[in-house]
Amino acid sequence: MDTRPIGVFDSGLGGLTAVRQLRRVLPGEDIVYFGDTGRVPYGSRGRDVIVQYARQDIRFLLSRDVKFVLAACGTVSSTYPPEEAARLPVPYTGVVGATARAAVQATRNGKIGIIGTAATVRSGSYAAVIRDICPDAEIFARACPLFVPLVENGYVDAGNPVTKLVIAEYLQELRDNNVDTLILGCTHYPLIKRMIGDFMGDAVTLIDSGKVTAQATAAALDDLGLLNGRTAGGSAQFFVSDVPYEFARQARMFLGEYAGSGDVPVERIAIESY
Ligand code: DGL
Repeated sequence: MDTRPIGVFDSGLGGLTAVRQLRRVLPGEDIVYFGDTGRVPYGSRGRDVIVQYARQDIRFLLSRDVKFVLAACGTVSSTYPPEEAARLPVPYTGVVGATARAAVQATRNGKIGIIGTAATVRSGSYAAVIRDICPDAEIFARACPLFVPLVENGYVDAGNPVTKLVIAEYLQELRDNNVDTLILGCTHYPLIKRMIGDFMGDAVTLIDSGKVTAQATAAALDDLGLLNGRTAGGSAQFFVSDVPYEFARQARMFLGEYAGSGDVPVERIAIESY
């Protein structure tokens, strides 16, 4: 039993989709969230910069005495070196492993699509895990760099014509290749999941990396004896590196029913000093 909070971070607010799922599966746990809103996006940057940012994000969370670090970011999860993660003083997980395994379980025709940021797709991270378990899988990966800005700017309402057009542009090839399972490899994408599902059709299973990872995190905490034993009343603290204009609206959109009724309380920190 461990009463310390769970640390969760992302390049920005996308990881809040994972927090929403964590709240659902572990309503009694306390959460400390860091969103690097001053330096988002990570997905278009080079490897060294992403690793450096991830180190600072993790050091910040460790300074808040977290018991577990969840990188709720497909880009960091695909880039931060596993050997470095293994040396952290608390257990760490990204979103790639559990999500890729869930896709292998879900597919019936062995054709799996992967969408994510440019850095995520370039890394081949999801494909490597899938091939490990299922060498015969046919994998179709596509970077979708416009999805993050569309989501951050609130273009998420069902049927939004701009988002619909971009979805068709990015996903047509995956649909033509008859993938029956599609990994949403970036934690921003659940916000446009319905529109993606409408385009891909009912026969395609969408795997939400935040959701799958929240369940895997709950199982890992349980296995490690790190749950706090409470079944309700968990708190969440939010930290960002810049308070974005319209933060409250954005946070509400990502957190859904877990945003509460008033403004989402947020504190700005100087991430460069970590
Ligand atoms: N939420 C991040 C991810 O899962 C994407 C945003 C970014 O490019 O920073 O990859």
